[in-house]
Amino acid sequence: MDKPRIVLAGGSGFLGQELAHDLVALGYDPVILTRSMRGKTGRVRQVQWDGKTIGKWAIELDGAKAVVNLTGKSVNCRYTHENLREINESRVNSVRVVDEAISKCTRPPEVLVQTASLAIYGDAGNRLCDENSPAGDGIPVETCRLWEEAFNEGKTPFTRRIILRIGFVLGKSGGALGTLSKLVKCFLGGTVGSGRQYISWLHVADMNRMFLWAIERDDVHGVFNATSPNPVTNAEFMRELRRALHRPWSPPTPSWAVHVGSWFMRTEPCLALTGRRCDPKQFLQHRFEFRFPNLREALGDIYE
Ligand SMILES: NC(=O)c1ccc[n+]([C@@H]2O[C@H](COP(=O)([O-])OP(=O)(O)OC[C@H]3O[C@@H](n4cnc5c(N)ncnc54)[C@H](OP(=O)(O)O)[C@@H]3O)[C@@H](O)[C@H]2O)c1
Repeated sequence: MDKPRIVLAGGSGFLGQELAHDLVALGYDPVILTRSMRGKTGRVRQVQWDGKTIGKWAIELDGAKAVVNLTGKSVNCRYTHENLREINESRVNSVRVVDEAISKCTRPPEVLVQTASLAIYGDAGNRLCDENSPAGDGIPVETCRLWEEAFNEGKTPFTRRIILRIGFVLGKSGGALGTLSKLVKCFLGGTVGSGRQYISWLHVADMNRMFLWAIERDDVHGVFNATSPNPVTNAEFMRELRRALHRPWSPPTPSWAVHVGSWFMRTEPCLALTGRRCDPKQFLQHRFEFRFPNLREALGDIYE
């Protein structure tokens, strides 16, 4: 019997590669849609698309078990007019064209899992944000709203729809943890800004288990916060990261230094100076079991 196919749109990046690896191990047939074919990555097939117009790639969705849309230009850059346009368009266009491709299928996929971000809650201070909390303000929030609005406009009557608002995913193979670890190793891993901004984090193993759960549980749909049940402040996060990397102390990094450093690193200070404390309420209500609910164990596993 053929292995169930799972199409990973924009799956060439950090989360897509990690998910594809686990899907292969579990007996699925993942297919990555990418703009630039990089040769065969292990046992994972790649198919070319442009992320905005229907092409031959759309055949891959017909008869697939699931589509996971991970497409989006990284937000880790300066928010110039051009970058913001690409950040927003890469997300909105991919959402729309995936919906269009599903609507053309004779055998539509059972489920569409769309990635989104907890950044939709804005710089939320101490407030605990669950899936019903209001959106915040600011540029990253606007991107998240456009992204989710495009998803909510889509109609796929034969395909279940679920959207995962993802937190800061911790893994060795990609994402922002690598950059933070380098700073910590150079004794530049002190508390950032006030240190009171929250970080809602999750281990990449739990991220993959959430994707699989969303694919396999045919009774779930709607919005889910994809984050661990124990968000921490920046001060706690940096302390645990220093502990995991055997750098017991580093001087704090004041806000002005973050502004200067961000300019040199071609990124935005708000990525480090703002945060949100999020609750994976829906996952907990559905009794999802976290493998790494606590930060110390999560970092211990990553750096052991
Ligand atoms: N990692 C996290 O901690 C995290 C947290 C919250 C939300 N998310 C969201 O989850 C999704 C996957 O995250 P990730 O960490 O795997 O991201 P990633 O490593 O940056 O990968 C995203 C993929 O999107 C594609 N892409 C980039 N720019 C594009 C453009 N202009 N048009 C079309 N495709 C484009 C790229 O594929 P090709 O170049 O091969 O086409 C890239 O591999 C993203 O949408 C991200 O915003 C991630």
